[in-house]
Order: sequence, then C-alpha cells, then structure tokens
Amino acid sequence: MITIKTKEEIEKLREGGQILAFVLDELKKMVAPGVEIMALDQKAEELIAQAGGVPSFKGYKGYPNAICASLNQEVVHCPPAPRTLKEGDILSLDCGVKYKEMFTDSAITVPVGKISPEVEKLIKVTKECLDRAINISKPGATIGDVGAIIQKHAEENGFSVVKSLVGHGVGHAVHEDPRIPNYSEAGTGEVMKEGMVFAYEPMVNVGGSQVDFLPDGWRVKTKDDSLSAHFEHTVLITKNGCNIITKLNS
Ligand code: MF3
Ligand code: CO
Repeated sequence: MITIKTKEEIEKLREGGQILAFVLDELKKMVAPGVEIMALDQKAEELIAQAGGVPSFKGYKGYPNAICASLNQEVVHCPPAPRTLKEGDILSLDCGVKYKEMFTDSAITVPVGKISPEVEKLIKVTKECLDRAINISKPGATIGDVGAIIQKHAEENGFSVVKSLVGHGVGHAVHEDPRIPNYSEAGTGEVMKEGMVFAYEPMVNVGGSQVDFLPDGWRVKTKDDSLSAHFEHTVLITKNGCNIITKLNS
C-alpha cells in the first residue's frame, strides 16, 4: 500500500530533508584526495545530531553506519571502512535522516580531485536520470514512467542501469511501498497521487547492469568491475507536479 502523507507529516519531511541536504552538502565539500572515509561518516553523525535528527541507516537491519560510502566499482550500501580517497576516485555518499519520526533518503556521487571526461559523463548522466524522473512526476504519472525515463537516458548514453536494486516509497520508514525500478515500460505500474513520497535512486554503470552482492551482506559492486554512479532524492508528489524534499533551500 502506498501511503498518502498528511500536511503535518510533509512539514516534518521538509525539515528533515533540509537537514539531510545540508549534511550531504557538507560531506561533498570535504571530499578530496587524502581524506579518510571514516571522517565523512563521523561528520555526518555529528551534523545530524546537532540538527536534532537521527541517522536512519544506522541499525537498520543491523547496518553499522550513518552513511554508505561506495567507491568506484562499488554501487551502493558500502559501510565506511578505513580507506583514504585518492585523486581520480568517484565516491557515492548515501545518507538517511529520521526527524520527528519521519524519514528522508538522499545520495550523491562526487569526484575526488580531477577525473576523466568519461567518468564525468557517467556522473552527469546519472544525475540527469534523476532530474528527468523528477520532472515527469505528477498526479496521474506512473511508477513505470520513472523507470522508463531513467533507463532510456542511461542507455542512450551507452551506460546500463542496475536492475536488482530499486528506488522506493519513503517517509514513515527507511523503505515503504512501492518498489521503483530504474527500468520499466512507460504507462505501467502504480499511479501517482498528491501526497505520495518517493525515493528515486538511479544506479548507473559504465559496463553491464549486473552486480555482485558481497559476503559481508551489505556491499554491492558491479560484476564487470566497471564504474558506477548513484544519485537519490526524496520527492513529494504535489497537486501539479513534484517537489524535491532533499534539495537544500538557498
Ligand atoms: N538509500 C539506500 C536504499 O534505499 C539506503 C539503504 S539503508 C542501509 O537502499 F542501511 F542499507 F544503508
Ligand atoms: Co533509498
């Protein structure tokens, strides 16, 4: 069942979304060659606590940290490890905040120092996939429309989408119905209504779409060891369109 959020719940999501957007923005500014991944996790913990929130991933099904920090060929869900960032890496940072009992979820992929034009293109196209999904979202659009536009844009650019992991509903919990695949047929799937809240999260690979789930039970990497990028926003379906809940208000 897809829940419709009340005005009060939406207000709490907006506040929590600002905390999460601020945290990811601060982490992004820290990313540079020589930086320790563990330091990013500590910073996220600190900033979320200062803002009166709770890191929602920590303890979720036993997940150990506030953020996921997935490097290069890693796709998602990597617990921060004692690793030092180096020039040319790409780092996907995924974070969730619980604030006043409401959950938001967002991710970005950030270059470490200078990266090649090909890798820049991967990051740009993945972000565009998310933007396009948001732009078509409104009451009457379907979950399949989202998957279709993400897949089309990724594949037109010579990349592939990960199919064994999906976006999702969000708000009262880290994950809610529906599942939101990053591939689909337009016009299929659940119909969007005002007050629904979704986490869209395109995961795009330079090579094939297949991934390996590593034995620690968390880490996911591309099967062919190609690079992978991930962007995610929590979004609200409004009367006429869609609002980004996890975008920093300037
Ligand atoms: N954004 C990630 C997802 O929706 C967050 C997973 S929670 C974690 O899959 F605990 F696995 F990190
Ligand atoms: Co998510």
